[in-house]
Amino acid sequence: MSNYHIKHLEEYFQVYRKSVRYPEKFWEEIAEEHFLWRKRWDKVLEWDFTKPEVKWFQGAKLNITENCIDKHLFSHGDETAIIFEPNNPDEEAQHISYNELHRRVCKFANVLKSKGIKKGDRVCIYLPMIPELSVAMLACARIGAIHSIVFAGFSSSALATRILDSDCKMVITSDGSYRGSKTIDLKSIVDAALEKCPDVKNVLVAKRIDSDIHLKEGRDEWLQPLLDEADENCKPEMMDAEDPLFILYTSGSTGKPKGMMHTCGGYMVYTAYTFKNVFNYRTGDVYWCTADIGWITGHSYIVYGPLANCATTVMFEGVPSYPDFGRFWDIVEKHKVNQFYTAPTAIRALAKENLEYVESHDLSSLKVLGTVGEPINEEAWHWYNDNVGKKNCPVVDTWWQTETGGIMISPIPHSTPTIPTYATLPLPGIQPALMDDEGSEIKGNQVQGKLCIKFPWPGMARTVWGDHQRYKDTYFSAYENKYFSGDGALRDGVGYYRITGRADDVIIVSGHNLGTAPIEDAINEHQAVAESAIVGFPHEVKGNALYGYVILKEAGESRKHENVRKEINQIITEHIGPIAKLDKIQFVSGLPKTRSGKIMRRILRKIASNDTDNLGDTSTLLNPEVVDEIIENSLNK
Ligand code: PRX
Repeated sequence: MSNYHIKHLEEYFQVYRKSVRYPEKFWEEIAEEHFLWRKRWDKVLEWDFTKPEVKWFQGAKLNITENCIDKHLFSHGDETAIIFEPNNPDEEAQHISYNELHRRVCKFANVLKSKGIKKGDRVCIYLPMIPELSVAMLACARIGAIHSIVFAGFSSSALATRILDSDCKMVITSDGSYRGSKTIDLKSIVDAALEKCPDVKNVLVAKRIDSDIHLKEGRDEWLQPLLDEADENCKPEMMDAEDPLFILYTSGSTGKPKGMMHTCGGYMVYTAYTFKNVFNYRTGDVYWCTADIGWITGHSYIVYGPLANCATTVMFEGVPSYPDFGRFWDIVEKHKVNQFYTAPTAIRALAKENLEYVESHDLSSLKVLGTVGEPINEEAWHWYNDNVGKKNCPVVDTWWQTETGGIMISPIPHSTPTIPTYATLPLPGIQPALMDDEGSEIKGNQVQGKLCIKFPWPGMARTVWGDHQRYKDTYFSAYENKYFSGDGALRDGVGYYRITGRADDVIIVSGHNLGTAPIEDAINEHQAVAESAIVGFPHEVKGNALYGYVILKEAGESRKHENVRKEINQIITEHIGPIAKLDKIQFVSGLPKTRSGKIMRRILRKIASNDTDNLGDTSTLLNPEVVDEIIENSLNK
């Protein structure tokens, strides 16, 4: 067991050294001791980053839902698996036991089967944070169907792109959702998306807001009557360790979103191991991650990681500001939450409000605080540590990505001394490398470079769905024999890592990855727009906000400009979703370009950040004169 729960720094170093020296033995022992396999693997690891091909636990058979549910039934069946906290605090919270979860997942799995869904089929899930979301994903996993969850804040056109890309046969949705004081009509978003997706044969609709929606004859059905009729036992499908478990889309800097494909065996082992260590989870603890299951954080650390550890995991439907800014702390107090995991953007938003919202709640149950999704600034870190953790709870700043499946670099509570803004040390099994611009690894400490990983780990994505070449090009081509994360990082004097941000054209807004290209494509759809370029600029709450430079086909008067600004944001909302709206839109006569025609975003970023003293050499530009004009009319001066 000693490998599984790290208790102090010396032990971390011991375990880490072993994990690097004998990685196969290390992961094999963990896999052996803590999971239920129906057949043992023939080989722990086979890998080749040049192809790239990575296989963990080849030949093994398992079903992840047996590990997340069935395994716990004998001795923990009555314990709570999921606490559902509704949007409206007056609606009663639901406590779903492992027995109940088993029953609900089996019933749902039987409904899927009755609709002809079988192993390997793709099922799109477009649901708000209600229990049906967790149940639906586990039901897919139960029968070997591949779930593709799309965050329910995405627009119909973003949903359609994702359904088409992975050729989903079925969509699971709800009549609508509650978010704070708003009610959102999800079903009509699905209807609009499906106009472009003729191959979707069935839509199952969960009832949440009791609205009067239209069900398309022969395609759409209410979910509940089907569940009522379904058998409550469903034999789990036996999966190969390397069979796909799910696809989850993430933005790239160019082109359409990438469907990152994760597999059953390695993902299970990795999320379970990292969950237990990073949150120091102990039997009986109540754990709460505030993310949406539509993102990887929710997949790995609301559902699979916690349930594989027989944890009690909270699912919150609402938002931190409803009915007031004390809601998070109200929930922590109400459910006596022990581990709390959220995003820096939420911390910054709450830190702006009256401290009374925090201080009026009893937060003494808290033991560990976590953050994820973007760099946390020092001020937010201290606010979190002082006011929420009362300087008594280790703050784990966890660095990872949709592609990595689980947490990669993070402090381990009570083992790793924390420093604000540092993700600190790699977890066991993770071998980071910092690379210079010439492609060589930078050794030693007090250095800065591009963050790569040089050895496989079980939780890594295996491919981009339907486009292995893109997987290779994006992650394995920049540096020979290494996975390139797309982030920059520094390593300080003691070997701690600090993530400095994206090194590519992905911008993280409120913790959400946004690629510049899809937003620019959307803007360029506006009939008055000739060309556009998007960059990020620092924002107090969101971390980054978006600044758009737009060339109009015809320069018009300023009243017209206001309308175009509104319409551009409307188009972005339709194509991607409200999260990608621009904060600032500046109309320009040209964009700074290199002689080969590439937009010099570096210059635009500096102007948007009002950092124009040191723009670097602009003389090599095709059109240096445009830079002065852009500075002159900058909206961020
Ligand atoms: O830039 C890094 C940032 O979020 C990116 C991954 O985004 P996504 O795939 O949506 O997954 C987010 C949740 C795991 C990374 O490339 N990021 C994530 N965590 C941190 C971070 N940046 C700094 N510090 C972190 N702790």
